[in-house]
Amino acid sequence: MQERLGEIQNQAKEDLAKAESLEEVEAIKTRYLGRKGGVITEVIKAIPGLPPEQRSSTGKSANTLKQEISKWIEDAKGKFVGKEQASDSKKMFDLSLPGEHKPYGHKHPLTQTIDEIKGIFKKLCFDIEYGPEVEHEYYNFDALNIPADHPSREDFDTFYLGNKRLLRSQTSTVQIRVMEKTKPPIRMIAPGKVFRPDTVDARHASMFHQIEGLMVDEGVSFSDLKYVLTLFAQSYFGQDIKMRFRPSFFPFTEPSAEIDISCSLCKGKGCSVCSQSGWVEVLGAGMVDPNVFDTVGYDSEKYTGFAFGIGVERLTMLKYGIDNIRLFFENDLRFLSQF
Ligand code: PHE
Repeated sequence: MQERLGEIQNQAKEDLAKAESLEEVEAIKTRYLGRKGGVITEVIKAIPGLPPEQRSSTGKSANTLKQEISKWIEDAKGKFVGKEQASDSKKMFDLSLPGEHKPYGHKHPLTQTIDEIKGIFKKLCFDIEYGPEVEHEYYNFDALNIPADHPSREDFDTFYLGNKRLLRSQTSTVQIRVMEKTKPPIRMIAPGKVFRPDTVDARHASMFHQIEGLMVDEGVSFSDLKYVLTLFAQSYFGQDIKMRFRPSFFPFTEPSAEIDISCSLCKGKGCSVCSQSGWVEVLGAGMVDPNVFDTVGYDSEKYTGFAFGIGVERLTMLKYGIDNIRLFFENDLRFLSQF
């Protein structure tokens, strides 16, 4: 009987190796393991008729072989199932089915604003410049005529990194970097991130974006500054935009101004974004202080220039009626997909 089991084992192995489809494997399964007439089933059924001393060992061997053949059959099935499914799906490819929807991404609203502003200034022949976010104190303060005891240097107004390095708190750093490496005439804008340890509220975040502007040449005057900024505001918001120039102070410009845009959220009535004033400050600007020219080695008798810094978030909020700066940074697609 043991010999017969050996033969069955070899035969089953051979049959399975020859099988070329799932159907053939199923047929082999019936032939060997089928309840009625299966080769193994018949062997097991015949055991009670064997001499008593052979029954137990033959039973064990037959069961082992049954398990072995079952496993081979499952393996063989596995080989065909994948293949047949693949060829089935090829056969069933239906051109008329709707495609898989892959939503398009798009630029973040702040990037869209920056791109739009770059476009406006490119038309006025301004170059686009970039500077580092991790800066030396020299570029963020000293070279910008900001004295050692100026409040903006305090720990609670600037993120210090140690070793005279900091996260720049304004893009005015790029004015110095560009003037150091180029001679006038200069017309440039510099978009980028700035960092301040402000308490976060509807209008303030600890990281936001500015676009710095600088124009230096012989005979540049405050009326040029006013002209360029008015042109810019009208291009961005439309001809009817209401602007307000307020006298102000920055250590690196003299005279200086802050420029407000009428609050489009409350139509000038007063809301949390405009601090109930009806106006939102979006720009700081002024004529470059001669001390700054002296620091970068420009002849301050010969050259004059203007500089400005635009708050990108504020501008975007006003244009689209967004009442909370935090929405830009929460990455909520329900908000972002509206732009
Ligand atoms: N750097 C100033 C700020 O961050 C803005 C500014 C830029 C003012 C250029 C004048 C000239 O507030």
